[in-house]
Amino acid sequence: MNESTPGWGILGAGGIAGGFAKDLAIGGHRVAAVGSRDGDRARAFAERHGIPRAHAGYEALVADPDVDVVYVATPHSHHREHALLAIDAGKHVLVEKAFTTTGDDAQAIADAARAKGIFAMEAMWTRFLPTMVAVRERIAAGDLGEVVSVTADHSQMLDLSPGSRMIEAALGGGALLDLGVYCISLAHALLGPVEAVQASGHVDEYGVDHRGAVILEHQGGGMSTHTFSMTTLGSNRATIAGTEGVIELDPAFYSWTRYRRRHASAHTTAVEEFEPQLVGRGMQFQALEVERCIADGRLESPLMPLDESVAIMRVMDDVAAAMRMRRG
Ligand SMILES: NC(=O)c1ccc[n+]([C@@H]2O[C@H](COP(=O)([O-])OP(=O)(O)OC[C@H]3O[C@@H](n4cnc5c(N)ncnc54)[C@H](OP(=O)(O)O)[C@@H]3O)[C@@H](O)[C@H]2O)c1
Repeated sequence: MNESTPGWGILGAGGIAGGFAKDLAIGGHRVAAVGSRDGDRARAFAERHGIPRAHAGYEALVADPDVDVVYVATPHSHHREHALLAIDAGKHVLVEKAFTTTGDDAQAIADAARAKGIFAMEAMWTRFLPTMVAVRERIAAGDLGEVVSVTADHSQMLDLSPGSRMIEAALGGGALLDLGVYCISLAHALLGPVEAVQASGHVDEYGVDHRGAVILEHQGGGMSTHTFSMTTLGSNRATIAGTEGVIELDPAFYSWTRYRRRHASAHTTAVEEFEPQLVGRGMQFQALEVERCIADGRLESPLMPLDESVAIMRVMDDVAAAMRMRRG
C-alpha cells in the first residue's frame, strides 16, 4: 500500500469503467493505471481520463506497484477470474455488480480475499449515495416504524444489437444480473435474508432473460416484489413501506435521486422531501467507502459485506433457476 491516497487500477476499458473514471476524477481520487486486453484501447482510455499508465493485459495492471485497489469492470462472467487475479497479486478489489454469476463464485471471491487478508467489496454503488444514506437514517430513527415491504422496478431499453454482452449467455447477459440485482439488493439491505423465492419471466432461446418478476419472502415476515426488463422502459421507482410510514424513491430509484416520506396516517401529504445535489453520476461515494475501510484496516465494508453479496447471489441463483435461465 502506498503512503499517500490509494492508487486505483481500472481493469477493463469498457462502458462503466469510463463512468467510474469520471466520478473518481470528480471525487479527487487517484487513478494510477488502466488495463485492457488491447494496449491501444488502454492508451486511448488513459488519455481520455488523464490516467498516468496504460497496460496491455490485466496481469500487467495487477502487477503495477502503484496500483493498490483494482476496480473490476468486465462482464459478470469474468468477475470471479479477474477478482481472483487481483487478490492473488495482493491488491484490494472493488468488483462491479452483479458480484458474479453464481453464489458459489461469489463465495470463492470472499474466501480468497479473506485468506489473503485483502479488502473486497461488490460495487453496489447505490448503497453509498446520499439518498440511501438519508433513507437509512430515517429508518434507523424509527420514522417508518417496522419496515415490512419493498417494491422496486428496474426496466430500461438496453442495446441488444449483435455483439452486445447483454444478449450473450456466456457473458452473463440478461436483465437479472444487470438490472434486477439493484431491486433485490435494496430489499435485502432493508428486509434482511430471504427465505423463499418465486420468479417468472421471459427467457429467449439462448437462455438469456429479457424481463422478469420476483416475489421474495424475507426472514421475519418482510415481503418484497420486483420487476425488471431490458426490453421495455418501466417506472424505475421503489417504495419502502413500514408500519408507520412510507418512502417513495423517484426514478431512477437506484441513482442519486429524490424521495418523499409520508406518514401512514396521512398518506397524501409528504412530511419530508429529499432533493439530490447532483455532482457526476455518484459512483465516487463507493470509492470513498473503499478508501475509508482500507484506511481503517477493515477487510469488508459494513454497508456491503461479502456475506451479503454471497447471499444476494444465492437468491439470484434461485431466481435464475425458476426462470430457467442459462449460465455460460
Ligand atoms: N455501476 C453501474 O452503474 C453499471 C453500469 C453498467 C454496467 N455495470 C457493470 O459493469 C460490468 C461491465 O459492464 P459494461 O457495461 O461496462 O460492459 P462493456 O462496456 O461491455 O465493458 C466490459 C469490458 O470488459 C472487458 N472484457 C474482458 N473480457 C471480456 C469478454 N470476454 N468479452 C467482453 N468484454 C470483456 C472489455 O474491456 P477491455 O477489452 O478493455 O479489456 C470490455 O470493454 C458489468 O458487470 C455490469 O453489470 C455497472
